[in-house]
Amino acid sequence: MDDQVLEVTTLLLEAESAIQADKRHEAATKLSQAYSIAKAANNSHLMTEITQQFQRIGQFVADQQRIEMNPIETKGWILDIGGGGEGIIGLLNGRQVVAIDTSREELEETQNDALKVVMDAADLRFLSASFDRCTAFFSMMYIPADQHLTVFQEAYRVLKPLGEFLLWDVTVTQAETDCNLLVLPLEIRLPNKTVETGYGVRWRKQEMEGFLELAKQSGFECIDTWKKGAIFHIRLRKPQNRSG
Ligand SMILES: C[S@@+](CC[C@H](N)C(=O)[O-])C[C@H]1O[C@@H](n2cnc3c(N)ncnc32)[C@H](O)[C@@H]1O
Repeated sequence: MDDQVLEVTTLLLEAESAIQADKRHEAATKLSQAYSIAKAANNSHLMTEITQQFQRIGQFVADQQRIEMNPIETKGWILDIGGGGEGIIGLLNGRQVVAIDTSREELEETQNDALKVVMDAADLRFLSASFDRCTAFFSMMYIPADQHLTVFQEAYRVLKPLGEFLLWDVTVTQAETDCNLLVLPLEIRLPNKTVETGYGVRWRKQEMEGFLELAKQSGFECIDTWKKGAIFHIRLRKPQNRSG
């Protein structure tokens, strides 16, 4: 067995154990790494095998997406929702970031200078108007849809007037009824390094437009949006003269 096949086989076994333990982020990362190795080796047979094997147990590997990220422009505090995992916002803005996540384990594994706190985005323990920016980098996809409106309302509450809520997430339109997990392999280009990871979402439809509607209901103004492949970005602002 050559080195690549051995490496891929090991990653697939590790991914399966992570799936059994419902560690979706870990499973998605392992799957994405296996897929990247097969792709880099131009081994289409292995790529097909990986995809098929995981479709069989309800996982669907999407095409790899790329995103370039730069530090968030602000001199103030940043609240990063779901800031465990790779901790991208903490890597970019370091000590300005308060990273909250419901998973202590995810936060413990995150290597950056952010202040890390176990907390639910739907029940923030901060006083109102505490933060200049709020971010959700591929985090809404992990939060149950019936909590999304509360998360927007909480983000609105803890932001200062003119504070901004920045979201990056994935469009899921296709109805793959046989699959229960969508794995999104992602290459994240930061100013000083590139992070290759994978985020796994329980299969459910979600689109930028739905989030824009929740943002409007929560009182936010939309400043900017973009879509690139399966990824979308939303930039929202809390108006100056509203309370909350
Ligand atoms: C894919 S990870 C986000 C990626 C992360 N932002 C990064 O930079 O790599 C999603 C995270 O959201 C967390 N999460 C899920 N529900 C949450 C909630 N209600 N409040 C806060 N975090 C939550 C998960 O534990 C998981 O660590």
